[in-house]
This record gives sequence, structure tokens and C-alpha cells, in this order.
Amino acid sequence: MKLDLLVTNIGQLLTMDHGNGPLKGADMSTLPVLTHASVGVKDGKVVFIGPREEAKQHEAETVIDAKGKLVTPGLVDPHTHLVFGGSREHEMMLKQQGVPYLDILKQGGGILSTVAATKKATEEELLEKGSFHLNRLLSFGVTTVEAKSGYGLDEETELKQLRVAKALNEQHPVEVISTFLGAHAIPPQYKDDSNAFLDEMVRMLDVIKEEELAEFVDIFCETGVFTVEQSRAFLQQAKAKGFDVKIHADEIDPLGGTELAAELEAVSGDHLVGASDQGIFMLANSDTVAVLLPGTSFYLAKEKFARARTMIDNGCAVALSTDFNPGSSPTENIQFIMNLAALKLKMKPEEIWNAVTVNAAYAINRGNRAGQIKIGQQADLVLWDAPNYEYVLYHYGVNHVHAVWKQGVKVYE
Ligand code: NIG
Ligand code: FE
Repeated sequence: MKLDLLVTNIGQLLTMDHGNGPLKGADMSTLPVLTHASVGVKDGKVVFIGPREEAKQHEAETVIDAKGKLVTPGLVDPHTHLVFGGSREHEMMLKQQGVPYLDILKQGGGILSTVAATKKATEEELLEKGSFHLNRLLSFGVTTVEAKSGYGLDEETELKQLRVAKALNEQHPVEVISTFLGAHAIPPQYKDDSNAFLDEMVRMLDVIKEEELAEFVDIFCETGVFTVEQSRAFLQQAKAKGFDVKIHADEIDPLGGTELAAELEAVSGDHLVGASDQGIFMLANSDTVAVLLPGTSFYLAKEKFARARTMIDNGCAVALSTDFNPGSSPTENIQFIMNLAALKLKMKPEEIWNAVTVNAAYAINRGNRAGQIKIGQQADLVLWDAPNYEYVLYHYGVNHVHAVWKQGVKVYE
């Protein structure tokens, strides 16, 4: 068989081929590494993984000499707010003066200011801007991304955001998986009746399902936004309508959103900075993936980061993500998030690589499709300008990606 692509002379190949399910606890420090390896691709799928010498038997349309460097699966970013209008650089000084994130929101800024900008933007403008940010994510090695709505808070704008994400998935090489986050903030006209607002968001679920505009439903469970009780009732309704659910839980104040994520068998519980011991225990005993976003703690200038060590040491499955958004984490640089995971979350190199590949894929129900290099699976590959996987975590603040292939096609160099 003539291959379409052969990447050979790979110094370290991280296959992440671990079998089924997200890696939990101590299993997160296992890493399948092949040295002096090659990967062969045909029709967008991996068809050969083996030693460099064996690869010589295969003819290929394109042969890439990896020159002894690192090759990994395309990274998966399981939590972004990709589609939005405007930007919020003016909030930078407020943050520096110590104005809390939730106070900016209370004063009508923060998320609500991005809502205003997103309402104004046309679908074309959002598409162009979303594509720009996706290109950047790709340049840092991301080939699959989750994208949330939540900057509309009304039917028209929420649907506009979701349609843009769907169009991006169709037009852009990076796969985009959508989440409906209509319950992201309380619009001013509902200030005294947030339940009525949630009812309105529930009414949107049928059209979202019908038009296949989102797979997941998410809510911001936080002081001054939605309570644990409201989040439970809202997500239960979403589940009844056939959606898998996610929760922005215990991001700023510890309310018990982590416990709720486990209770509802959410596909992921996200942020979890204030997660209680009980919440961590419940997560460890569930199939819910803990998606940690250290870029947000960093950018909100917090002392406190999610307790990744406690989570992993107690058996949780942990994934990492940029939380790319215009307010609390304006960065597409997932490699910087990996650096933060090493320095601030005290995660081991092996845990970090599992957290941005296989576990991140399970956090968006793509465990059998993305985040691994496996015979028969789509060939999403990253060739790194790095001699080994630890190097990427050590040399920080720069981009180490040399080239990216999505389903066997080179999409970045
Ligand atoms: O994950 N917490 C809510 N949502 C985002 C921030 C959105 C924004 O500030 O625009 C987050 O931190
Ligand atoms: Fe978020």
C-alpha cells in the first residue's frame, strides 16, 4: 500500500494509546512513548505505527523527516468561548487596581460588555474573528476545540453565535464542538427574576437540538449569577432533552458546583478552583472529567489555583484548557497553560500531556476520535521543535510547534 504521508525519524512519539476511558489518578502519570518511530497515514487515518527501520518498507507520497524530534497527537482544547464581538482591554487597569471580576460584571461590564459587542456584530464579522482565533489555536497545536455561546443571552444572538461555531466547524480545519451557554450571566432586564431568564433559555433548547447547534449545555454557577439549585434544575431540563451537560463550577467562590457536576454525571466540571474535599471525592468516584483552567487564575491575578494534586492523588480524571475568552483568559496559547500546569498546579509532565490530549478528548465526548495516535483513528499530528516532551513545559512563553496535520493534511507550518 502506498501511504499518503510518512513521518519518520521521530525521536519521541507520544501515542496516548491507553485503551478506553479517561485516565484517572495515578494512571495519569503513564505515557506511551515510542522512540525512533514512524507514523504512516492513508486517507486521513493512521495506518502504520512502528520503528523507523520498518517504515522503510513503505512507499509514501510525502515523507517528512522529523529529525529526531517530538511528535504528539493534535491537542484538544475542551473549554473555550471562541465566538464573541469586541475585546476588553480597558478592564486590564481595573483588574490591576484590584476591582474584582464579579464586581466588574455587577457594574454592567465584563461578560455583559461582550454581550453588547456580540449583539452588534454581524454573522460575517463573527465568522472572520472566530476564524482568526482558531488559526491561532491551531498554530499552538490545537486540532479539536470546544466552543461555547453565552455572549447573546437572547435567542437571536445565542443562535447567531452557535451558527457561527457550526460554520467554523465546516469551513476550518480545526474541529469545533459546540456548547450552549445561554445561562452565562443575567441580562439587566431579568435582574430581579433570573428564573424567568432561565425559563427563556430552556425554551431555546428544542431549536438548538433540531438544528444540531450544540451537543452540550453549560451554566455559570457562581455568586451573583446562578445558584446551585438553579443550575441543577436548568441542567436537569437540558439532560431530559438529550443534551450532555457541563458546569462552570466553583470558579471564584466555592458554592458546591463540583458536587453538582458529579451528581448530575456531567461530562465535565470546569474551573473547580474552590472545589471542596467532598466535591473532589465525588468527582473521583464519577465519570466526570475535571477541566482545569489555570490561565484564568493567572489572569485574574489570583493566589489560588485549582487543587490539581489533590484531585489526581485522589483519583480524578483531569484535563486542561485555555478557557480562551475576552475577559478572564484572553489567550490561545495552550502551551502557556501547560507551563502554568507544571508550575502552579504542580502537575507532572506525563499528567500534563495526558490532560491536553486523551483526557481533554473525553471531556468533550471525543475519546474515541481525538487525542490519540492509533491505528484506524484520524491522523491529527503535531511535529514539535523540541527534542522531548518535557522540553515544551520547560522552555516557556514561546511556540514550539513546527507543523500540524489534521486528518493527514498539513494545515500549519
Ligand atoms: O470561564 N466564568 C464565566 N465565563 C468565562 C469568562 C467570560 C468572560 O469574562 O467573558 C470564564 O471565566
Ligand atoms: Fe469559561
